[in-house]
Amino acid sequence: MSGHLLITDLDGTLMGDEEALERFNRFFAGLAGELALVYATGRSFGSVQEDVQHNGLLPPVAVISDVGSEVRLFADDKRVPGWAERVSENWSATRVRELLAEEPDLERQPEAAQSAYKISYWLPNAAEERLAALRDRLAAAGIDADTIYSSQRDLDFVPTGVNKGTAAAFLAKEIGFESERMMVAGNSINDLALFQLECRGIVTSNAHDELKRLVKHRAQVYLSPHPLADGVRDGVEHWLGRKARLTHPS
Ligand code: GLC
Repeated sequence: MSGHLLITDLDGTLMGDEEALERFNRFFAGLAGELALVYATGRSFGSVQEDVQHNGLLPPVAVISDVGSEVRLFADDKRVPGWAERVSENWSATRVRELLAEEPDLERQPEAAQSAYKISYWLPNAAEERLAALRDRLAAAGIDADTIYSSQRDLDFVPTGVNKGTAAAFLAKEIGFESERMMVAGNSINDLALFQLECRGIVTSNAHDELKRLVKHRAQVYLSPHPLADGVRDGVEHWLGRKARLTHPS
């Protein structure tokens, strides 16, 4: 594919202000095919389809869903082959659930948030030691799992090495984009792995302080003074160097 690729988070990044999203969509249309869109979210693929149908989200090329554990092309709703196959034999969603059912402080998220490669809980204000103890618990039972803890509440268990960043690198290669032509955008810790790729980053002004602190010294990261979709748009303008000819929000 030609042009640039933008891989952006949804909730709290591209979504959260309908008018700003409309401005982003108009801006995107003005780029006339120079930019390809991919969404990277902690939510399921189905919930992204719903947002495209009913909530003003543009159809993307592909969706990285379930915090990186699923990668699908949007148009044909098919998994991109090769990603799920990388998951270690020592991952089992059922075993993760069984083992963690005994942990009193974990509240399981609704069934719609659970998948074969992502098991999610709510755990407010968890300390790093608590997360390490949970990982150790799984490791002792022979399960290869990583934790992704974001918004001081959302706790996702995924197969080791699975996150939005590794999924984004896999997808970019599959659809033919080198890192020089890639931008990523996010607002919370579940987006951190995107900023660890060797590409240009955009952090919206409303992003969590923890993410800002962890990425602010990276030369390739732009902290936008604008929130949500206005920040994403501002970031794309910044990196593509075309501020002068594009209209700003009123
Ligand atoms: C989304 C998902 C949730 C997950 C969170 C962080 O909100 O619905 O399951 O825990 O993202 O990745």
